[in-house]
Amino acid sequence: MDRKYNFYAGPAILPYEVMKKVQEELLDYNGIGLSVMEISHRSKDFINILEAAEEKIRSLMKIPDNYAVMFIQGGATLQFDMIPMNFLKGGKADYVNTGSWAKKAIKEAKLFGNVNIAGTSEDRNFNYIPDIALSADAAYVHVTSNETIGGIQFHTFPETGDIPLIVDMSSDIFSRKLDITKFGAIYAGAQKNMGPAGVTVVIMRNDLVDKGPEDIASMLSYRTYRENKSSFNTPPCFAIYIVKLVMEWLETQGGLEAIEARNNEKAKILYEAIDNLSLYKGAAEVKDRSKMNVTFRIYPEELEAKFLKEAGEQGMIGLKGHRSVGGCRASIYNAMPLAGVKTLVNFMEKFEKENK
Ligand SMILES: Cc1ncc(COP(=O)(O)O)c(C=O)c1O
Repeated sequence: MDRKYNFYAGPAILPYEVMKKVQEELLDYNGIGLSVMEISHRSKDFINILEAAEEKIRSLMKIPDNYAVMFIQGGATLQFDMIPMNFLKGGKADYVNTGSWAKKAIKEAKLFGNVNIAGTSEDRNFNYIPDIALSADAAYVHVTSNETIGGIQFHTFPETGDIPLIVDMSSDIFSRKLDITKFGAIYAGAQKNMGPAGVTVVIMRNDLVDKGPEDIASMLSYRTYRENKSSFNTPPCFAIYIVKLVMEWLETQGGLEAIEARNNEKAKILYEAIDNLSLYKGAAEVKDRSKMNVTFRIYPEELEAKFLKEAGEQGMIGLKGHRSVGGCRASIYNAMPLAGVKTLVNFMEKFEKENK
């Protein structure tokens, strides 16, 4: 079977080795004669999977014991509500407005308290990471580490002192090494770098978890997830199982240091092609370019549809930019092999020769 190179922003490509393992174990997990999909979330086999997923997340990211790792449903989008519901409570929080996803987080936070826009790049259609001016009395600072649609990324994070830094890392979690102690909380939907859609990983310092109000609905309280090991209700078992396999795959790749080096190489090759060829132009400011979502335009614009069609015919799909911004976007998450990026670059060169 010919696997396609899927450049969609998410759900994204998963490591081939992981998909093969899922296939092998689909009908009979661990010799129990049933699929992971068919067993109780209270069974020993599933509890082992959930514990291993957490343990691997902890070891890959070097997460200290004073942080909780939780598996929650509702996507990263539910976190846009849960964060302010738990920590804003009529007070003030700093939000950095870097694009479509930050905007959505801001809209929800405004339902629960005052939002100070500590920086925005809206003046230039979110093609850069803005300077940030933090308030002294914010309950927390919220940033979107990688704007999946605009293709910009924080390459360093703001220093927030004692104020917790809370980060939506949906589209670049596990793509690079991080010092976790700089963050109050990190959250990310699984469907880019961790697994299939259906589970969101939330890593949160315990003192923040403790700060959540007592009079909040159980399913919206981080304490509920921490205290019930993410199994207060039925967790998304199959998605968590695949997250565990993706974490094992990451270990075999050499962990975050090795994956970061590979991601740097993939991004370099692709941006070099964009910069060196004349038909393409990068959409984001060079210093803030995302290493996960590479956004570019084709000039003359009439060629774009032809580019997308011919790429599709050659097995490269999902290169169309998000409907809100247009242009092209190549999402090159962890599981996109170097060969996929090289195939795209070869195609871009050939397309330029044929259409100049
Ligand atoms: C940066 C970012 N935040 C949040 C979301 C929303 O995630 P979900 O669909 O899991 O709610 C996405 C989805 O693409 C995203 O890229």
